[in-house]
Formats: sequence, structure tokens, C-alpha cells
Amino acid sequence: MKRTIRFTVNGNVAEVEVLPHWNLLRVLREELWLTGAKQGCGEGECGACTVLVDGAPVNACIYPVLEVEGKNVLTIEGLMGEDGRLHPLQEAFLEKAGVQCGFCTPGMIMSAKALLDMNPDPTEAEIRHAIAGNMCRCTGYVQIVESIRRAAELLAGDGSSGKE
Ligand code: FES
Ligand code: FES
Repeated sequence: MKRTIRFTVNGNVAEVEVLPHWNLLRVLREELWLTGAKQGCGEGECGACTVLVDGAPVNACIYPVLEVEGKNVLTIEGLMGEDGRLHPLQEAFLEKAGVQCGFCTPGMIMSAKALLDMNPDPTEAEIRHAIAGNMCRCTGYVQIVESIRRAAELLAGDGSSGKE
């Protein structure tokens, strides 16, 4: 039997009818049409589905949707400014070639967002630790680490951190 849950996603209140066994990724992608978060492994291993719940990165593919009631979800779609400007993390990934096929990128950027919100000037080791749960089959990670470092510089320069 379906239940109605309410939560905030990218600054807007969402009210969705869900089955209790659904996960958050299913609801984001198939009920709310927020398809930025990707379904990779579906088992909590690859990080392609990473979104922030109350500021913390979670694997949405294994996050029970009933647990999101009343919480604040941020997806990659919520990073873009209302004027259409890319978030500094998105700019930095483009500038430093942190994107190849792009499948891992939304999850990678959301993990990086959580890191930079907590630690605006991370070391390479701290960056690698923060994205340890995000698999990339393309880049070899060097450009991704450089992208996150560049985003830290951009954020230090303009102070923008997206909307939540
Ligand atoms: S799809 Fe969620 S961790 Fe792989
Ligand atoms: S850019 Fe292809 S998986 Fe990371």
C-alpha cells in the first residue's frame, strides 16, 4: 500500500506517493524526474547515485525512501544557480577535464560538495578519502582531484556554494 511522504529537494517541497520498499534513487529518478543521480551498481558500491541528505552524502540506491521524510535532499540539479550559472564545482570539472563519459560525475560532484562544505581547503589525501566511495572507470582520478582542488579555489574566490 502506498504512503505519502514529504521532503525538500533542491529547495522545493516534494510530496510523493511511495511504496515502502522503494529507495530514494527510484523516487528521485522515476517520480520526480531528477535523473542526474545515476543508477550504477544498485548495491551501494559505486557512488553513481550519490546525493546529499541533510548535507551528508548517501547512496540513494540503498537509502530507504521512508527515511527521507522531513529531510533536505540536494541533487546535482540543485547546484545550478537560478540564473543558469553552473556551480563552481561544475565549472571546475569542465575546466580540469574531470569529466569523460560523465556517468560518475553527478555522484562525484555531490561527494565533493559535501567535502568542501565541511572543509573548504582540503588536501589531496582528504579529497581522495572523500571520493573513495565514488568509482570512475574513465579518468584515473587525477583530473577529478585537480577539479575539486580548483573548485575549492573558485569557491574561496566568490563564496558561492549553491542552494540547499
Ligand atoms: S548505484 Fe548506488 S552505489 Fe552504485
Ligand atoms: S567519467 Fe566515466 S565513469 Fe567517471
